[in-house]
Amino acid sequence: MAQYSWSMNNADVQTVPEISPLELLKKLEAGEPVQIVDVRARSGNSIPAVGLIPQDRLIAIVGSRLVQYSDLAGTGIDPSRPVVVICAHGNDSKIGALHLNRLGAKARSLTGGMAAWMKLSVPRTLPPPAPLTRLVQFDRIGKEALSYVLVSDGEAMIIDPPRDFSAHLQFVVETGAVLIAVADTHVHADYISGGPEIARRLGIPYYLHPGDSVYPYNGEPGQLDFTPLMDGRKIDLGRCALTVEHTPGHSPGSVTFRIEEEAAFTGDFLFLNSIGRPDLAEKTEEWASQLWRSIQRARSTWPKTMMVYPAHYTSNTPRLPDRGIGAPFAQLLSENPGLQEMDEETFLRWIEGRATSAPPAYRTIKGINVGIFTADEIEAEFLENGKNECAIQ
Ligand SMILES: [Fe+2]
Repeated sequence: MAQYSWSMNNADVQTVPEISPLELLKKLEAGEPVQIVDVRARSGNSIPAVGLIPQDRLIAIVGSRLVQYSDLAGTGIDPSRPVVVICAHGNDSKIGALHLNRLGAKARSLTGGMAAWMKLSVPRTLPPPAPLTRLVQFDRIGKEALSYVLVSDGEAMIIDPPRDFSAHLQFVVETGAVLIAVADTHVHADYISGGPEIARRLGIPYYLHPGDSVYPYNGEPGQLDFTPLMDGRKIDLGRCALTVEHTPGHSPGSVTFRIEEEAAFTGDFLFLNSIGRPDLAEKTEEWASQLWRSIQRARSTWPKTMMVYPAHYTSNTPRLPDRGIGAPFAQLLSENPGLQEMDEETFLRWIEGRATSAPPAYRTIKGINVGIFTADEIEAEFLENGKNECAIQ
């Protein structure tokens, strides 16, 4: 059996079959028994988080070790099931797949690697509320993060775009609509927003609540060009008027965009099964108190039939028929532990009992999102690695 050095200097590497992140996702969603072999170097025994890839499908073998195997026995790989080899950017995984195929496996290399997987945003069609023509939820699988494109009478708006917003712009172009606005429900801590960049490129407004325009860890003013959102403000989109509702707590400037009594885009204020954590900036008591008031307001004024579309989900969140994520507010009232009736004091203790440490990268990402730090592509990939941790556990 030929041995391969751990390098790309092998002509056969260029012939290795590949699979795109979208194809892999479709196979996983269809329940195909794909085995994922992760060849990235790592510290300790931990398998890096890869959103929506079930942990029991993952086999972690560092690439330099993988190429030392002279048969599949001992690798844990079942030769009868398909294999997808992943690495950071889709190069080393080709060598791994080539070697596994020489040993009799049916392996493909994931094109673009984890970097591409983490960027994949899949459109899910949602039933549009009456004032909209189209409503699409973009599901960023690797981060379990959701963004939205709203279309009404030829005008489009994006809510909570990721830094790779190509799928969103492509969808807008395909619908023949004109993108007139982009908005963030809040300054995100877990991913770098594409909002400011879209606004700059297209010369359209970037909407944000001013409460989030400062760096929350030291109060330093951000360097953002934005159009301020205030409670009660209307944003006109075609025949639709979105209403801004200030729903602080996860951050001081968190807002919900409402389409009348029909739909609410809640960002990280409310998820279907949890609520946005108010402990990201060492102001837990102050932010939790704001969050409690936002929850009371929603509980007392929001229609029970209104659909809630959040910015995150978890792997066990039930999906709608087209695999979208959303639920009527009534369902949250009965099932979401954070929405149960509690006085403020009880709520604060409830939050304190669930406080966890936040990923250190969140401080940097918030700084990037308010325009006081920058990151190149490699730094951005590193900062955004792993699922979000924006919800109360
Ligand atoms: Fe988040």
